[in-house]
Formats: sequence, C-alpha cells, structure tokens
Amino acid sequence: MKVLNFGSLNVDYVYNVDHILVPGETQSSTRRNVFAGGKGLNQSVALAKAGLPTYHAGQVGNDNDGEMLLRVLSDNGVDTSLVRKIDGPCGHTFIQVDKHAQNCILLFGGANRCISAEYREEVFSHFGAGDVIVLQNEINDLDKIIDKAYEKGMKIVLNPSPFDAYLDSCDWGKIDVFFINEVEGAQISGHESADEILAWFRENHPKALVVLTLGSAGSCCMKDGEIYRQGIIPVKAVDTTAAGDTFTGFFLKAYLEGQEPGAALALAAKASSITVSRPGAANSIPTIAEVEGA
Ligand code: RIB
Repeated sequence: MKVLNFGSLNVDYVYNVDHILVPGETQSSTRRNVFAGGKGLNQSVALAKAGLPTYHAGQVGNDNDGEMLLRVLSDNGVDTSLVRKIDGPCGHTFIQVDKHAQNCILLFGGANRCISAEYREEVFSHFGAGDVIVLQNEINDLDKIIDKAYEKGMKIVLNPSPFDAYLDSCDWGKIDVFFINEVEGAQISGHESADEILAWFRENHPKALVVLTLGSAGSCCMKDGEIYRQGIIPVKAVDTTAAGDTFTGFFLKAYLEGQEPGAALALAAKASSITVSRPGAANSIPTIAEVEGA
C-alpha cells in the first residue's frame, strides 16, 4: 500500500499578534516567522513522520521558496519525485497567531492552483487499486482528481478544508474517509453539535468513516454507525497551526495499519497535542517515536 497525498505546498508567513485584527484596524506584530506549510505539505510530513510510505504530488514555483518546500518534504521522509516545479509564485499564506494561540489564515493559491490534466494523468500512472489518496481543498480540479482516484480503485480520504462552494462539484459518494473540524462540520451539515453533524453524515454518507475534531472538546469518529470519542491531552498551547493536519496523518497511520478507531483517535490526539505546544506548521509535527514516548 502506497499513500499519495495530492495537495498544496505553502510558504507560511506567521505574525504573532495580541488579537486577531478587526476590520479597519492596524496593529504591530510582536514577531514574524517564515515556515513551510500548506495543508497538503503538513499532512504529508505527518503521514511520513507517523511511519507511512508517503508520496507527495503538487506544484511549487521554480524559485528558492519552491526549493525550501521540497527540502522540508524530503528531509522528513516524503517521496518528492512527483512534485512539479512551474513558473510563477508558490502558494503562500499570511497567518495571525494571537496570545491564546488561536490563528486565522489568508491563503494565496499560486502554483497549487495551476495543476493541468496532463500532470494529473502522470501522477496517477504511478498508483492503483489498494493505494490510498489523501486530499484537501487547496488545489484546483479536486473533483477530477477524486473521479480519477475512484476509477483507479484507490481508497479516498478527503479533508474538505478550506470549506467553500467548489466542494459542491465533488462527488462525496466516492469518499471513504472524511476529516473535518467542528466549523467545517457545521458548514457542511447546517448543525452545530457533534452528534447532529455525525447524524447528518450517517444519513448522507453512511458508508464513510467520519473523523471530527472539536478543538478543546476533543475528537470523535463514526464507523458503521458506531461513535468513538477522545478527549484532549492538556498542554500549554502556543500555536494551533497544523494541529488538524497532524491529527489526520497519525489517525491514518493507526487506522490503515488495522487498529481500532478508538486507538487511532488516541494516537492522533497525542500527536496533535505535541504540535500545538510548538510554533509553526510542518516543523512542529512530532515523529512517531516522540508520540509513543510522550
Ligand atoms: O492547516 C494549516 C495550513 O493551512 C497552514 O500551514 C497554511 O499553509 C494553510 O494551508
């Protein structure tokens, strides 16, 4: 089994602020850091650090930023042979992190949103039935990528984030595993509570495994109608960026290796508690040895 993550690679410009800006406000930041990020890149790093054989597909600009993003992936054990360099800027973000470690993210797609039909075909020529594809909503033509992965007989994992109207064009009936947070769950289902969100999925996507993260209220998942719950592991949070991506990578490691959903939730909760205790995105994700030793 190979894991293909077809997803974004971003340069994250992270500004520490007292509070998240309100409309019309100007505020001095207390610190700025530049990190490798992108939901795609972060999830690839988490999958590889958790110990899964991970291949990343996606695009970067043909410049120093692109080199830096590729280096972070390969330094963390991700196969980058399928990542393509193109002319134009890399995807990047401006992230504010407030004194409570909450963030907000402004995203520019750049190279992530220039994926061609020819590149898609080239990537899929390396994968087949029994392989797993992990997807987020930061690249173009996600609907076509889902259709192709389904045609190939791959197991499809979707983190529909950021949630927007484009996702309506995707065939959610082809998804085997969903990873969503409580905000996305409410946007998708029109309900606020975890139980109502899961009930919506039970009715609309009964065959899918659904993993729902709930911030300080922990996480839960639903498989074949049965619900498993997990609390958070309390730590001093400094930056929540990439916590959800870490959760995805470590949950999948345990789940794809045949562990019960409850055990997968526990491993993922431990890993993401370490991520929130460190600043940054991909660089804050722990190894499996750190998680098992924690
Ligand atoms: O999930 C966190 C990521 O979302 C950041 O690294 C940022 O690049 C955005 O894509």
